[in-house]
Amino acid sequence: MMSPSVENGYSTDVLLRVSDLKKHFPIERGFLRRVVGHVQAVDGVTFSIRRGETLGLVGESGSGKTTVGRCVIRAIEPTSGKVEFQNEDGQLVDLIGLEKSSLRHLRRSASMIFQDPYASLDPRWTVKDIVAEPLRLSSMASGKQLDEEVVRLLKTVGLEPKHMLRYPHSFSGGQRQRIGIARALSTRPRLIVADEPVSALDVSIQAQILNLLQDLKVQFGLSYLFIAHDLSVVEFIAERVAVMYVGRIVEMAQTRSLFTQPRHPYTEALLAAVPKPDPDLRGKRVSLSGEIANPAAPPPGCHFHPRCRYAQAICKREVPGWEEIAPDHFVACHFARELTLQGVPRSGDAPARD
Ligand SMILES: Nc1ncnc2c1ncn2[C@@H]1O[C@H](COP(=O)(O)OP(=O)(O)O)[C@@H](O)[C@H]1O
Ligand SMILES: [Mg+2]
Repeated sequence: MMSPSVENGYSTDVLLRVSDLKKHFPIERGFLRRVVGHVQAVDGVTFSIRRGETLGLVGESGSGKTTVGRCVIRAIEPTSGKVEFQNEDGQLVDLIGLEKSSLRHLRRSASMIFQDPYASLDPRWTVKDIVAEPLRLSSMASGKQLDEEVVRLLKTVGLEPKHMLRYPHSFSGGQRQRIGIARALSTRPRLIVADEPVSALDVSIQAQILNLLQDLKVQFGLSYLFIAHDLSVVEFIAERVAVMYVGRIVEMAQTRSLFTQPRHPYTEALLAAVPKPDPDLRGKRVSLSGEIANPAAPPPGCHFHPRCRYAQAICKREVPGWEEIAPDHFVACHFARELTLQGVPRSGDAPARD
């Protein structure tokens, strides 16, 4: 057997491949619940995640990130497209249309951590029950073995096993998120969809949870689809970043290249919100005006054109193609080759000159 090749420090071996994924939610009206339209929450999204890799998925609230995550763990059925997962033989298998038994098996390979540790844990359940439930449901452990597994998981996430008979309300926000992480780890997944896992936490706690996720990644060889609404959170955790706007990915690149040389005006605007160490750069940047477009009636052409300071006539008419503008740097913008957009210098980078 060939060993997986290693590129840029991580394996190129693909764990998850999502191709042209769409999820359209029907909008129903009136007594007869007539379908009057569709929310195009996800409208043709393609990306892959390699083993051991973290892909950041970033965009404003309403851009479709959670819906992508839920389709990946198959909590909801996609409208169309493929979600392929590497099985034990190293083959990519389309989860859509799989039989129940194989689906259940592959489903265990991916789990999700939710944004709000207050809402995502059932207040009537003890920590032990919360962490043990996925193991029980999948018949992976029972009795004494189940107890031992819960103890191991709690220790892994930095919680004291003696607290396992307590209820979620007696824990702090950060500890509750640790409970959610222990639960997500219980079935020994290979991929974790982390849906804004630190957005609801105090800034002082955010770094602890990010460090924990980073340690677990190394310890268990995990891959993450790491969802965030703000680029600063993914900067240090993701090897690559995909930027999503109204159901579509508009730019995807290695993190450093996306931050220092954004090629899509939406990415440039999101970067303007990232805190800057250099006071000279503050206040000189473009900011994002207007509201995110309605995914039930998105603007024609490039969805971003009504908010784009560089938009031209073609942007209102034609959907821009997806092109590889530099190695491993993809963008969908009619003017990606002409524009010089402003990035964020990383520490250690030479200051940009005007
Ligand atoms: N179950 C649903 N039914 C109808 N619309 C939905 C449903 N879930 C999400 N949406 C809509 O899909 C769009 C994308 O939502 P979501 O995936 O939650 O975005 P994000 O996570 O980026 O904030 C939003 O307009 C949202 O209102
Ligand atoms: Mg969301």
